[in-house]
Amino acid sequence: MIKIAAVGGEIRAALLAWYDAHRRDLPWRAAAAETPDPYRVWLSEVMLQQTRVETVRPYYERWLERFPTLESLAEAPRDEVMKAWEGLGYYSRARNFHRAVREVAESYGGTVPSEPEAFRALPGVGRYTAGAVMSIAYGREAPLVDGNVRRVFARWMDAPDPRDAELWSLAGALVPGPRPGDLNQALMELGATVCTPRSPRCGACPVAQWCAARAAGTQEQRPARRVAKPLPHEDTAVAVVRHASRLLLVRRRPGVRLGGMWGFPGAVRRPDEAVGAAAARAVHEGVGLDVQTMDPLGVVEHTFTHVRVTYRAIWCEVQGGEPAALGYDAWVWAARDELDRYALPSAQKKLAALATETSLFSP
Ligand code: ADE
Repeated sequence: MIKIAAVGGEIRAALLAWYDAHRRDLPWRAAAAETPDPYRVWLSEVMLQQTRVETVRPYYERWLERFPTLESLAEAPRDEVMKAWEGLGYYSRARNFHRAVREVAESYGGTVPSEPEAFRALPGVGRYTAGAVMSIAYGREAPLVDGNVRRVFARWMDAPDPRDAELWSLAGALVPGPRPGDLNQALMELGATVCTPRSPRCGACPVAQWCAARAAGTQEQRPARRVAKPLPHEDTAVAVVRHASRLLLVRRRPGVRLGGMWGFPGAVRRPDEAVGAAAARAVHEGVGLDVQTMDPLGVVEHTFTHVRVTYRAIWCEVQGGEPAALGYDAWVWAARDELDRYALPSAQKKLAALATETSLFSP
């Protein structure tokens, strides 16, 4: 176990010196003498949760072209915000970030609060985000632990499965001092580039001398890999409803999986329920339309964090009625060249491709 009281200062200094020499040049990082823009720091930290730097980079840049300031984002309609997030996944991040930014515009005059308690109270802001934004944007001595930091600490401690309380307490012991934001980023950066899950480059590590796993030769086994539980599976019928050369899209209610995103109506099949019957039920319950089910269009598989879904798309024709937002919060008849305007999660994009590849749009 590292004695932070004894060597914390040395570890901090080694990390900061290493960070100054090796930090990646990332679009959300202010140059050494610049003051970071809290809105940008916050945006980047929300995008980076569960998502790799290289995936985030183009989204971050496009986002700032579209929403350069906190005010511009606060004023934007939610559909546009979701569209800008399309493809990044974990869409509740975008919904919460937008709500939080609106609250900052309304209640804090557009300035991101620099008080950790006030910032933590905003939608979607957990202790990781609070630690990152408070330390990086405002120089506050707020600790953070993410997956990279957990691995770094587990190796320092040579612990197979360190408890959250231990990790946060170590982060909290290390952060006080000069440049807390850079210290936090140095820890994350070390985990991302040197103290990697496989084949860590201990020879390039600025803190190898304090690493218990390195001393024991157990670095590859720390932290222990968690045994992945098999995911539950949903078999979902998807209704591709055609009417006058347009397809029915619906927007999912906030608060459900993929809330705020558009897609085709769908329902998890009940035991022994045929795909057509489940699809017709989805349309009936979702928008009050009665449909006749036609040919199957294809199958799309998608794995979310907590569930694996098989989507079975089936072409449907309207038999009667006008749509109404019952189980969904909005609906639209979209022409083929309009599908792109709507924020579709990746499985729905694949389903839309199945629909447009077939002859559904031909006269
Ligand atoms: N991962 C998430 N945020 C990060 C940051 N600011 N620097 C390095 N890696 C990160």
